[in-house]
Amino acid sequence: MESISVGLLGLGTVGSGVVQIIDQHQDKLMHQVGCKVSVKKILVKDTNKKRDVYLNGTRLTDDPNEVLADPDIDVVIEVMGGVDQTREYILKALENKKHVVTANKDLMAVHGSELLQTALENKCDLFYEASVAGGIPILRSLAEGLASDRITKMMGIVNGTTNYILTKMSQEGRDYEEVLKEAQELGYAEADPTSDVEGLDAARKIAILATLGFSMKVDLDDVHVSGISQVTQSDLNYCDQLGYTMKLIGLANRTKSKVEISVQPTLLPHSHPLAAVHNEFNAVYVYGEAVGETMFYGPGAGKLPTATAVVSDLVEVAKNMRLEVNGNSVVLPQYPKNLKSDDE
Ligand code: NDP
Ligand code: HSE
Repeated sequence: MESISVGLLGLGTVGSGVVQIIDQHQDKLMHQVGCKVSVKKILVKDTNKKRDVYLNGTRLTDDPNEVLADPDIDVVIEVMGGVDQTREYILKALENKKHVVTANKDLMAVHGSELLQTALENKCDLFYEASVAGGIPILRSLAEGLASDRITKMMGIVNGTTNYILTKMSQEGRDYEEVLKEAQELGYAEADPTSDVEGLDAARKIAILATLGFSMKVDLDDVHVSGISQVTQSDLNYCDQLGYTMKLIGLANRTKSKVEISVQPTLLPHSHPLAAVHNEFNAVYVYGEAVGETMFYGPGAGKLPTATAVVSDLVEVAKNMRLEVNGNSVVLPQYPKNLKSDDE
């Protein structure tokens, strides 16, 4: 393999981070995969927009086929967001035998099984580490590091925007709308931040975690969701006076007879470790029958943390290309959704 050629779909917050890391960490990437990695083309909406990133000769296009059907492109990285159109683009990329990396939880929570199945059929990799908890490598930890264990519970903060809002409102007494705007400017929020503040983004992530951790297909409809848009400053003040911190907590709990999944504002004692997770940071507890309790912590949103997860997926694809084993690491849900008692 002389080089690996990448086609990017999207050059916003995450896309520009991906371009930056590929450019600035080229030595490390060469060392990891044994050849040069370069971004050949990038699909954007507006090719005339001023870009705040060094493109090093990479061509921008508004024609998806220029990326998806380019025979020289080995890997398509999807960081444009959206569901229906994006699903079509990824299916086309896979059918054209291109490996895919995506940061898109909206897509993976709804169409993940179909896309992973298509990847498998085409002997392609499809990795989506950045879709949950930004820079924290939690999906790979579930799929590989904890592969031998039976995961019984996952609980944590999986949305950076709402954690940023709750932190600034409770610690600095700042106004909800003002802090939400700041989270948008910092690149943490979704294009439509309703999905952040109403808990949907966290619901998608907890559905992905439960699908992978419990090896069963979990649908968004299975998640009981409530967000933080109705939380007021006085709610937070009362919580504080009573010795509690409010956090938006995602929970996936598996007993012998049922699975319960929810996202809701939750009161945690000030001494609880999750109460000390501030700003855009995320943290997830994973409980396994054999391993016991583990905790994953790190930046859950933002340009470079998210791009790190994306480019690390790219490295994994490149290593598989070198060994000619692409498609082998696709993990599909094994168990039916309404898991009955394992010992029935
Ligand atoms: P942005 O809105 O910043 O960027 C989106 C990019 O995609 C833009 O470059 C835009 O083009 C391009 N784009 C959007 N729609 C189309 C289209 N129909 N055709 C062509 N190009 C299109 O999004 P983010 O970078 O913040 O997020 C991207 C993805 O990553 C989303 O799925 C998001 O959920 C996910 N993600 C984001 C994180 C974050 O912290 N921001 C963290 C983890 C995941 P143009 O520039 O011309 O407008
Ligand atoms: N909007 C998301 C968040 C981005 O705030 O967590 C990371 O997935």
